[in-house]
Amino acid sequence: RSTCAAASSTHPLLRRRGYSSESAPERKVAVLGAAGGIGQPLALLMKLNPLVSSLSLYDIAGTPGVAADVSHINTRSEVAGYMGEDQLGKALEGCDLVIIPAGVPRKPGMTRDDLFNINAGIVKSLAAAIAKYCPHALVNMISNPVNSTVPIAAEVFKKAGTYDEKKLFGVTMLDVVRAKTFYAGKAKVPVEGVNVPVVGGHAGITILPLFSQATPKANLSDEDIKALTKRTQDGGTEVVEAKAGKGSATLSMAYAGAIFADACLKGLNGVPDVIECSFVQSSITELPFFASKVRLGKNGVEEVLDLGPLSDYEKQGLESLMPELKSSIEKGIKFANQS
Ligand code: NAD
Ligand code: LMR
Repeated sequence: RSTCAAASSTHPLLRRRGYSSESAPERKVAVLGAAGGIGQPLALLMKLNPLVSSLSLYDIAGTPGVAADVSHINTRSEVAGYMGEDQLGKALEGCDLVIIPAGVPRKPGMTRDDLFNINAGIVKSLAAAIAKYCPHALVNMISNPVNSTVPIAAEVFKKAGTYDEKKLFGVTMLDVVRAKTFYAGKAKVPVEGVNVPVVGGHAGITILPLFSQATPKANLSDEDIKALTKRTQDGGTEVVEAKAGKGSATLSMAYAGAIFADACLKGLNGVPDVIECSFVQSSITELPFFASKVRLGKNGVEEVLDLGPLSDYEKQGLESLMPELKSSIEKGIKFANQS
């Protein structure tokens, strides 16, 4: 034990975070889709997180190898790999947080909604298993189309009688990560200190970065703001095209997913003032789900923050995104209630 603790305390990632495994409570985290393009680097990053005591890696294939590999890293968490549906229950039992990057990614020319036919069914069955085996866990939904998969999971949980709107999150963190990176580049400010809220949903024009609220302030022209907005909205497509048929964002997504999961764990552990953007059940607009800043706490979402002051350009963007987001949400709800 003392050798492990000494190794952990000198690990640069752990030192930077200022945590030691001795002070953090036990937390079991599962990654569903752990052998995939996102799942593998996400498993690595969660293995580096000292807030995790047990890391459960589930996929329909390939998890024994990923789990064996990651388990050799000398950090706090125990790692177990689970493969195939008959092991899903074991993977989920006792989980505090379940991260879902399971499902097919886009190829060039596809929209996220084109993934609906395959991914909706995957998410529906994984959500049913969560309702059965770890109904109190926080759920971080990465699988696309997020604008529909989150409502699908909500409906499955409602049917099972386990729905808690504070515990279901659509992961939109990659939009925030991109907005920060692109803003810092344009404004020529150090990226580490940049903050940009991104609201709405996670597809095309439903992604609405609020550069008028970005900090530190920079005097960017209207053209610059438009270009930054478009690049953030098209960030996923930029990667899909660059990968030319070999999938979509995996590494930046794993990073964003790990940051968001870390925020959820900090909230669960009672760290105050943890605020990130996420697509959650919401009443800040007329839509039942909406991405905005949320305060994370011991029960998941402690507070959904409102949008704050918007520029005229952002007000227009908000108006334009509502019909598409509404129909994606309704599509998810309808699917979940079929059969
Ligand atoms: P991938 O094909 O590389 O990996 C997906 C993994 O899911 C595979 O290992 C596959 O075996 C597994 N899987 C399939 N069905 C499963 C099931 N029933 N249970 C468990 N695992 C199952 O894809 P990827 O690049 O990792 O992307 C995964 C998903 O994440 C896609 O839907 C993609 O669009 C989405 N995504 C979302 C964001 C976001 O910002 N929210 C960003 C990037 C990608
Ligand atoms: C992204 O934003 O990178 C993901 O939603 C994947 C995609 O299909 O663009």
